Amino acid sequence: MFTNWAILAASEEPMFLTPIFSPDFQSENPEKKFAFFCYDFTLEKGVVMNKIFWLALTGCSALLALDGKVIFESKCASCHSSYIPLGQLINNAKHNNTILNIKAPTLNQLSFGMRLNVGDRKADEDSQRLEVEDFIGTYVDTPDRNKSVIPSDMTRFFPDMPSMKGQLDEDEIEELSNYIFDYGEEMIVAHSAPVVSWEKAKELAAKEHKIIMIRGVLPFCKWCIQMDREVMVEKEVVDALNKDFVVVKMDVIQDKLPLGMKSLGTPSFYFINSDGKTIIDQMQGYGNKEEFLELLRKIKEDAKN
Ligand code: HEC
Repeated sequence: MFTNWAILAASEEPMFLTPIFSPDFQSENPEKKFAFFCYDFTLEKGVVMNKIFWLALTGCSALLALDGKVIFESKCASCHSSYIPLGQLINNAKHNNTILNIKAPTLNQLSFGMRLNVGDRKADEDSQRLEVEDFIGTYVDTPDRNKSVIPSDMTRFFPDMPSMKGQLDEDEIEELSNYIFDYGEEMIVAHSAPVVSWEKAKELAAKEHKIIMIRGVLPFCKWCIQMDREVMVEKEVVDALNKDFVVVKMDVIQDKLPLGMKSLGTPSFYFINSDGKTIIDQMQGYGNKEEFLELLRKIKEDAKN
């Protein structure tokens, strides 16, 4: 709903919004109430108030979107801290939690565990979301380490989670689990080098004399996910990519690789010169941080020759 709204609002004619909503004062649904508030506001004051309208709009959508986050912060964050890069967590686990001294798996660990191991990640996203909701609802009521979806060597030093039976209603569990479900991917995007389209990549590579790196992936490829989580978010990798590369991500089944290249499977990497035409190298495989940095160095050398 908010997407449509934003597009229409961008036409700078707030009155135009009228047909979309049947705002309802009595409504139990907060979205309808908010809609009424924003709509009424602009209708009365007209275009002059457009800026304030935008503030209200941002405020309204932020409030709704934040729900899951707010619940997490009030009910879970006292034990589950927010994003810590997986590399640091793995190192911490090797040292029996003596480096970070955290109380429970972090929010990104929860998110990663759910995405990878709850329900069927090859099925459509909505049905996996439902399974995650079910898993979290049950775990919060009756925590059970036997059901854990995070590798036990990452959780063995934590005490058992206490039951929170009766502290969250169904709606809260839904907001919360959607928030947890999305969180990990959001953190990966926020902490990795930007990903652009092939067209945009050619433009940027030509302008900034950079090498194009196409990552060949599939949504359910475990090693691609592992590279996203453990390698692509590492600062040295981000720096190396930002300095000399433009990154494109392609689904090797749905997308057509450019320049007549054939998929090598997943994860795979296709490096193309800044002219957008010359293939430097292509390979398939997983690399850890050091191996991947070494690969980038080698590609840079090859690009010069
Ligand atoms: C008092 C501390 C505490 C609070 C509050 C807490 N947890 Fe936990 N949670 C833990 C600990 C410790 C673990 C790991 C041990 C375990 O699974 O029993 C855990 C594990 C979990 C797991 C299982 C992860 C796995 O291994 O698969 C989920 C899911 C989870 N918590 C969700 C939540 C949610 C959602 C909330 C808020 C509504 C919450 N927790 C609040 C301490 C807490």
